[in-house]
Amino acid sequence: MAKITDNFATACIHIAILYVYVMSVAVTARVLPVHPYLSGKEKPITSIFDTSNYGILQLGNGLANTPQMGWNSWNYFACDINEEVIKETADALISTGLAKLGYNYVNIDDCWSELVRDSEGQLVPDDRIFPSGLKALADYVHSKGLKLGIYSDAGTLTCQYHPGSLGHEYDDAARFASWGIDYLKYDNCFNLSIKPEERFPPMRDALNATGRTIFYSICEWGVNDPALWAGKIGNSWRTTNDIRDNWESITTIADINDKWADYAGPGGWNDPDMLEVGNGGMTYQEYRTHFSIWALMKAPLLIGCDVRNMTAETFELISNEEVIAVNQDQLGVQGRKVYAYGTDGCYQVWAGPLSGSRLTVALWNRCSKSATITVKWAALGLESSTNVSVRDLWKHEFVSLGSASSFSAQVDAHACEMYVFTPLTVTSSSS
Ligand SMILES: *[C@@H]1O[C@H](CO)[C@@H](O)[C@H](O)[C@H]1NC(C)=O
Ligand SMILES: *[C@@H]1O[C@H](CO)[C@@H](O)[C@H](O)[C@H]1NC(C)=O
Ligand SMILES: *[C@@H]1O[C@H](CO)[C@@H](O)[C@H](O)[C@H]1NC(C)=O
Ligand SMILES: *[C@@H]1O[C@H](CO)[C@@H](O)[C@H](O)[C@H]1NC(C)=O
Repeated sequence: MAKITDNFATACIHIAILYVYVMSVAVTARVLPVHPYLSGKEKPITSIFDTSNYGILQLGNGLANTPQMGWNSWNYFACDINEEVIKETADALISTGLAKLGYNYVNIDDCWSELVRDSEGQLVPDDRIFPSGLKALADYVHSKGLKLGIYSDAGTLTCQYHPGSLGHEYDDAARFASWGIDYLKYDNCFNLSIKPEERFPPMRDALNATGRTIFYSICEWGVNDPALWAGKIGNSWRTTNDIRDNWESITTIADINDKWADYAGPGGWNDPDMLEVGNGGMTYQEYRTHFSIWALMKAPLLIGCDVRNMTAETFELISNEEVIAVNQDQLGVQGRKVYAYGTDGCYQVWAGPLSGSRLTVALWNRCSKSATITVKWAALGLESSTNVSVRDLWKHEFVSLGSASSFSAQVDAHACEMYVFTPLTVTSSSS
């Protein structure tokens, strides 16, 4: 009896040791090393280095090391799409140079298919608008060095009443793969009130079973807090309702998406929805804010305007290489709101760590008048004595070569100034 107990106890200890080992491996694999400038006494109000839920390549399809970039038809065209629009958009991404900057997915949204499946139960492209078929379209897009995306729904119908893929996951994924599709946006309409945690994994498995590498974009609108479970299912997950082309929408969405910052990471990103830049509902400053904050939040950068016919201002915003570099930074940590003050907290500091011990910082004025906004180093987790060079990503110049303790700038109403801070001195935590 004693012997059995001993063995039992030994086994328990072994299991406990194994458990601790497995857990520590699991945990250390997911947590970034402590930031060198976070060792001092000053703590940020919200730790921008909190990566406790940071996922790394959880889905295992090798995609989304950085947030996806490209274009999607919905925000500008809605259902008014056809193969000419898609081909001309691919052409325009190349001729404008946007493709070279990373915008390489050309994504068709809802309304591409016939309203009913064929006699064999298969999805078919609407041949009035895609007469050449999607295989030919994919070949065309691929010939330009770009990738083609498509849309379906984890329900009985799509939001525009085309057939959904619920219960048809394997057939539909196989079709998409046979056409050469590279990306699937998967929506949430007509969901029969079945939990999304049950409806979204079958398409992951079906896409995987095709053997073709296909980006899986979950569009569940944030209904069941997908950040908590979607990392192992998709490459990105919508955190909010649909974006609208106005200021109220982007501020609301940014705040909701911000809540889930520590769940994003390489392989799986929070998705606050596609860009509205260039669609006419906001001012230049508001669009610049929208693009800056989306980049900082490691949001997918999916252009939503008509790239065949952009204004110079729209092009200037979405082609800012320094802002895009923040979004595509290899560290892959979502920036977040770290400090807010003033009436209703309308003077805001958003920030996030970048590779090379750098930080990105945005000073965002949500008030209706121009104001000076100040970021104190304490809000960034920096020692106040740390000297920092400050590069302005919209002016494309260094605005300070050695700021310490704080930095201030004049920010117009609804504008957002965006910077990269590079600490120049390492202060010893023991001093
Ligand atoms: C399918 O999933 C496995 C396990 O995550 C992964 O190793 C493989 O690369 C995936 N295949 C495709 C085509 O996504
Ligand atoms: C199903 O869709 C409706 C809207 O059509 C939405 O309100 C609801 O939250 C969704 N339910 C689930 C479980 O996703
Ligand atoms: C191009 O955009 C302008 C507005 O910027 C608009 O007035 C015009 O109709 C557009 N042209 C086409 C062909 O869509
Ligand atoms: C920061 O820069 C200032 C001026 O360039 C310099 O005088 C100061 O010694 C620097 N501080 C540290 C801690 O290196």
